Parts: sequence; structure tokens; C-alpha cells
Amino acid sequence: MLHRSLVPSDDDAAAAGAQPAVPRSTESVAEPHNRVVQVSRFGDADGLEVIDAVMPKAGRGEVRVRVLASSLQYTDVLIRRHLYPQTARHRPPFVMGYDVVGEIDQIGDGVRDFQIGNRVADMTVVGSNADYRTLRAGDVARVPAGVDAAEAATLILSWTTAYQLLHRAARVQRGQRVLVHGAAGAVGQALLALGRLAGLDVWGAARGEHAALIRELEATPIDYQREDFTRVLPGGFDVVFDGIGEDGYRRSFAALKPGGLLLAIGFSASVQAQRRMLPIMMEIARLYLWRLLPGGKRAYFYSVNVMRARHPIWFKEDLERLFGLLATGAIRPRVAERISFDKVAEAHRRLEAGGLEGKLVLCPEFSS
Ligand SMILES: NC(=O)c1ccc[n+]([C@@H]2O[C@H](COP(=O)([O-])OP(=O)(O)OC[C@H]3O[C@@H](n4cnc5c(N)ncnc54)[C@H](OP(=O)(O)O)[C@@H]3O)[C@@H](O)[C@H]2O)c1
Repeated sequence: MLHRSLVPSDDDAAAAGAQPAVPRSTESVAEPHNRVVQVSRFGDADGLEVIDAVMPKAGRGEVRVRVLASSLQYTDVLIRRHLYPQTARHRPPFVMGYDVVGEIDQIGDGVRDFQIGNRVADMTVVGSNADYRTLRAGDVARVPAGVDAAEAATLILSWTTAYQLLHRAARVQRGQRVLVHGAAGAVGQALLALGRLAGLDVWGAARGEHAALIRELEATPIDYQREDFTRVLPGGFDVVFDGIGEDGYRRSFAALKPGGLLLAIGFSASVQAQRRMLPIMMEIARLYLWRLLPGGKRAYFYSVNVMRARHPIWFKEDLERLFGLLATGAIRPRVAERISFDKVAEAHRRLEAGGLEGKLVLCPEFSS
């Protein structure tokens, strides 16, 4: 990955989470060092670069954190490729980093509830692949003492999404039969683990080589390359969670029982097929027409950001509940590898190649 110390910055970039690059000549020796991973152009992972950036300062109502962990996920690939609706208005350069677990090292005016050294977390969408960043104090969740920062970071997007899909969107009931696509992935594993805790009967569709992992998570594996998931359960599933969107979600809808619910959350298949944003969005819009079909089935698209905007308290409550489950050992998220800044571009390539069974987490302290 390219590492440089001087890049232009603009207002868009600042709004998108970029911190202005700092020229070497004015770099302060007294201040700790700040590095960020920035997108210099939309497209492949070669457009990512590590740059030195100015140290952000906590403004009114903000805290500054020393970043302990920031996890990487498939959604970062969408952002980098300019295929993510929530960041469609961002223009490079901007700083990557969907989530953050950090330790507060500076407190802005007007912040009363936090102290230096408290550990907090937030879902920032961009801007957290950094040594330091600022956060709005009102947005952050508390991270209990003793939990591993990298494991905590894996919960912020993927597990909160899974928790909300189950308990806020589908409002699942013990004993229901659910199908999870991409079951070996980050959200998929979380759905399997939390589905088991909720007393569900869970099937996980994934490549055959992930079957052992899916059994370990106490779900029934479906090798989607050999088996037809629309036929494994005569009568159909109560709920199907689909982050792949193969065939425009049609077969997932077909796999529901009458009155069942399809929750679409992603479109990895369309991204792999290099489709553009507009046709993907039209495919998602079509889901809402299917409820007019006979059979009483429903389908809609869940977005963790839309739900957070509507119910900010839910997001914080759900994330803190997950941190509690982590602290007691009730859930055990998998960290595939803790990486340094220089490995972030490679991590994006690994995410696109597939086959991972745990999350890649940037831990700035591993970088020299
Ligand atoms: N709407 C929301 O709020 C929200 C929140 C989080 C994530 N998402 C979306 O949900 C999806 C999953 O996210 P994630 O973080 O769990 O991703 P992930 O960790 O990359 O997992 C995706 C899984 O899907 C499998 N997969 C990929 N392409 C496939 C295909 N064409 N057919 C069948 N299986 C395929 C992969 O299997 P292999 O490893 O075997 O290739 C992988 O196990 C992504 O589309 C993401 O953007 C949405």
C-alpha cells in the first residue's frame, strides 16, 4: 500500500471524514502521530493509501479517541467502489473506516459523562481507519472493561445488524425456522449465533467448505452450489435473510412459507457482476411490490443506518447489549487477523476474494 505524507484535501473530504494531510515540515514533534487510510480514487484497492494527517481536536460536545480497533467488512469494498448509497455523495479523498473502538484521550467543552481513559465505540461509516479521530459524545456506546478491543469492533456493524434484523425488524419468535444466506460471513455468523440464542431453528447457506463452521454455530448447513435452498424445507421458512441478492432475491422470496418475511440486506452478487448502482436500487425497490402478490409474504430492505437514524437509542442499546454478551462470553465473534495500516489494501482484496471465516481488524498499535 502506498504511504505518503502530503495530499490535497477539500471540503467534501473533510465532511466525509478525511483529516487534512500534514506536510512534514510543519509536523509537530510534541503531538502524537496520526495516520489514516484514505481513498484517493474510487475503484480497486490500489486507490487506498496510508497518509500522515493532522491530529484532530475534540470540539464542543465531542471526544477524541486513540483508535484501538477498526474492523473491515465487505461494506468497505462497496464504499471504495462507489456502490454504497449512504456514501454516494462522498468524493475522494476521504478516510475509510466503518467502526471504531477507542480510548478517550481528549474531551471537548460541554461533555460531562466521560473521562479520559474511558473506552467507547461508534459506527462512523467512514473516517475510523486512523490513529486518532473525534466522535460526538452523544453517539458513542460504552465498551466494558476487560473486553478485547478487536472483538468488540467486530460487533459494531455486523452483529448489531444481525441483532436488529432478528429482534427489531423480524421480531423473531422461539422455534421459528429461518434461512441465512452468506452464513459464513460476518453478518451471517452473527445471525447464526444470535439466532441460536433466540431459540430459532437456523439453516445457513454457504459454500460447502464452510459447513463445519456452520455446524459449529449449531445451524444446518446448505451447500448452495449443490443444493436448492428453495426445496430443503417443504412448507418454507418463516424468515429469510439475504445479503447476496442472487437472481434479484426471487428465490429467497420463493423459499418463504405463506405469510413469511424476506429481509434483504445486501447485493454482493450484483457487485461481483459489476452492475451499476441504479439497476441495483431498482431491484431493491421491486421488493416492495411483491407484498401485493397472493400468499401474504412480505419483503423489504433493512439498513442499519436508516434504522439508527430513526431509532438512535435502539442502536446504542443493542450495541451495549452485545458488548455485555461479549463480556460474559455468551458470544464469541471471530477475528481472522489483527492487521496494521500497511495491510489494509490487502485486506480489501481478501474481502473481495471471499473465503474468510472471521473479521480482519485494523489495530493501529500493530503499525510502526
Ligand atoms: N443493510 C445493512 O444494514 C447491512 C449491514 C451489514 C452488511 N450488509 C451487507 O450484507 C452482506 C454481507 O455482509 P458481510 O459483512 O457479512 O460480508 P462477508 O463477511 O463478506 O460475508 C458474505 C458471505 O457471503 C458469501 N458470498 C459472497 N458472494 C456470494 C454469492 N454470489 N453467492 C453466495 N454466497 C456469496 C461469502 O462466502 P465466501 O466467503 O465463501 O465467498 C461470505 O461468506 C454484504 O452485501 C453487506 O454489504 C448490509
